[in-house]
Amino acid sequence: MITGKEIRQQFVDFFISKGHTFVPSSPVIPTDDPTLLFTNAGMNQFKNIFLGLKEPSFPRAANSQKCIRAGGKHNDLEEVGKDGYHHTFFEMLGNWSFGDYYKQEAITWAWELLTEIWKLPKDKLHATVHHTDQEAFELWQKNTDINANYITYHGDKDNFWEMGETGPCGPCSEIHFDRGENYCDKSQTQGHECKVNGDCARYIELWNLVFIQYNRDDRGTLHPLPNRYVDTGAGLERICQILQNQTSNYHTDLFLPILDHISALSSIPYSKEDGISHRVIADHIRCLSFALADGGFPSNEGRGYVLRRILRRAARHGRLLNLHEPFLYKLVDTVIEVMGHHYHELIEKQHYVKSVIKAEEERFNQTLDTGLDKFNAIVSELKGDTIQGSDAFTLYDTYGFPLDLTTILAEERGLLVDLAGFEAEMELQKARAREAGNFKHNFTQMEWIELSDIQGTTFVGYTEPSVQTLVTRYTLDDNNGIAFQLEKTPFLAEAGGQVADTGTVSNAGFHIEVTDVRKQNDSYIHYGKLVSGVVDANPVTASINPEQRKRTARNHTATHLLHKSLRTVLGEHVQQKGSLVSPDYLRFDFAHFEALSKEQIRQTEQLVNEQILANIAVRTDIMNIEDARKTGAMALFGEKYGEEVRVVSVEHFSRELCGGTHVAATGDIGFFKITAETSSAAGIRRIEALTGDAAMRWVDELQDNFSRVAEKLNTPQKKLFERIDLLLKQQSDMAKELESLKQNAALDAVKALEEQAEVRDDYKLIITKVNATTTDEVRQLGDALKESASSTVAVLFATFDDKVTINVTVSKDLTGRFHAGKLAGQIAAWVGGKGGGKPDSAMAGGKDILALDNAIAETKKLLS
Ligand code: SER
Repeated sequence: MITGKEIRQQFVDFFISKGHTFVPSSPVIPTDDPTLLFTNAGMNQFKNIFLGLKEPSFPRAANSQKCIRAGGKHNDLEEVGKDGYHHTFFEMLGNWSFGDYYKQEAITWAWELLTEIWKLPKDKLHATVHHTDQEAFELWQKNTDINANYITYHGDKDNFWEMGETGPCGPCSEIHFDRGENYCDKSQTQGHECKVNGDCARYIELWNLVFIQYNRDDRGTLHPLPNRYVDTGAGLERICQILQNQTSNYHTDLFLPILDHISALSSIPYSKEDGISHRVIADHIRCLSFALADGGFPSNEGRGYVLRRILRRAARHGRLLNLHEPFLYKLVDTVIEVMGHHYHELIEKQHYVKSVIKAEEERFNQTLDTGLDKFNAIVSELKGDTIQGSDAFTLYDTYGFPLDLTTILAEERGLLVDLAGFEAEMELQKARAREAGNFKHNFTQMEWIELSDIQGTTFVGYTEPSVQTLVTRYTLDDNNGIAFQLEKTPFLAEAGGQVADTGTVSNAGFHIEVTDVRKQNDSYIHYGKLVSGVVDANPVTASINPEQRKRTARNHTATHLLHKSLRTVLGEHVQQKGSLVSPDYLRFDFAHFEALSKEQIRQTEQLVNEQILANIAVRTDIMNIEDARKTGAMALFGEKYGEEVRVVSVEHFSRELCGGTHVAATGDIGFFKITAETSSAAGIRRIEALTGDAAMRWVDELQDNFSRVAEKLNTPQKKLFERIDLLLKQQSDMAKELESLKQNAALDAVKALEEQAEVRDDYKLIITKVNATTTDEVRQLGDALKESASSTVAVLFATFDDKVTINVTVSKDLTGRFHAGKLAGQIAAWVGGKGGGKPDSAMAGGKDILALDNAIAETKKLLS
């Protein structure tokens, strides 16, 4: 049987033989395309080529791309498990032409590979074309021996492909495989017609050939692209199903080992009919393994939230298979057995991926238990059959229940969830968050005032702190806030955690203070304040603030040293998860599962300072990405890089791909000090640190505080700890002494009370006012009296806090005759209050202090 691995290789080899260059898959987490949640198609990494923003390095490319379709325009999450061919994660085999060949070759080669190399029966293959694309229709007829009746026209829904709401798109031609009549799952549905795109499982789409020729903008309008492109995609899992002669993608060698592992863990064998949970878990664990290995992380927003939902969905299906303890993480090893040979990142990140999944499963188990209680409470109070949107939102927001989990649980009880209400709550929360965030730039739509035709900006800031240049376009807001572009700029834009340069741009006519800079494609947009004058087209001097640049550079190089030192001290699993490099301090977030010990912090700090003392030159080299990888340069997790990269190295210590600004030699950092180590999210630690003069000032302040403590204690610094120990000992001795004094005083008080006792025939009576300031004191006195005196009834009165407090105690031997609780109630009534308690001891109180003397007299009467 041909394996999945062989199929992947044969596809790539076939297109290499047709002049294509193999391109590795890009990460499933796209870091540079905010319009995209996950990489959802092979063409994503070529988007800028299609848009004419980037020159291709070769005219033809082929690969197998890791894709995730969960959330966003292409979302298959809800379908997964129900059938044999929907996935959140899958591999897309693809070939591309960048303004080179077009429809004819794309069609001819697809046919050749399917029918000659893979020998699929021609009478089972069908082709579809867009209803306007007669050219493609005729090319199928002329260039292949497909049955002419099997070429059909279809509308936009099936034959116009778009990657998202905006972006490159075009008509497409799909190839479908007829699995045979008995695969139809809609034969009982009225009006069902078994045909291509007829919505049943008989015809399965194998390959999509897209002829990209438009860009859709954010208003929905199509614009023709300067060139025409081919973008094809064939699902590897589906091709495996067909070539391995199986009835489901899940029954191929890409999935079977994972299903087997699930059966072994749960002791519930997999069956096609009863296998939804097995399939969901097998699909989701592939998705999670790849997403985490490429830098994704479960969280409460954006793609992190989608990953959390996927994990929780898998965990819940685990519960349906009686798997109550964390188990998903164990399956990662099997995913790696199946895929690791082609996707080495899985092997590199194996330990990390497993730990993240396990920690998240543990958290979910806890959440599930508390959330289920809350869910049951909501259901038990439910009027009607619909769970309110606000309740679903509380489950989501406070108990971490994904909406689909609430929906599943509701369905199980025959209930509905008010989805619109949930969305409304979600919007409200987002609006609150927006209001809370402070927006730096109010320029939503740039209405540029054009001063020049020059497009784009040349960045010269690595070498030039100040240049003569031109303002090419600008826009002002009502408060003289300005956004503008320059022909050349020395200002580094915000990127990779490093904040932008600040500085000035001016000429004889105007002066601008620059506070922020952002990069947009090839342009640098500078933001700031027009302090004086009117912007003109004359040459300007653009200068960065050199002091700020220097401080930022110290923190940036120190961040690289810190990253490497953490990996040395804690281990290779340490991955950068976020960083802020500002002139004032640096902040570094990284994956690690527990707080650092004092010792580890000290070691890390020392390692960084050793590099600083060694004063090693910092090099930057521009090189090809492959060469950079070979030198062992650390690439940021999941980051997508161009062909040419900038490598920043500190000889024999650290080497990272980085576009930021750095010191010339490590000695320029001066001194490095970690000031805080905290948790930033589950599984992520945060370090804050200072360098140079800021670090020195921090130490000075520490020293000042220490001196002040010594002064306050009037002790030389060297003797400070001795002195503190002595003070602590004195304090504890005093506390002991105080305690024993109190006890003695209490004993004396009890003795004095006993001496006041009036002796009756066979018992003693103590009825008196005592000095006390709290209820507890009165009670303790009463208790002590009860312990010490036998055959005694005691009633103690005290006044404090504007009320009368009464304690009644009766010795054990008298409880047959007197009941302390009842007495207390009776006596309290005389001071306008209430009370009660046990037969041998009771408390009571009343507000009427003026009636106290009378109450004492009445009590004496009562008990005589
Ligand atoms: N972009 C197309 C798809 O995803 C073909 O690669 O189907």
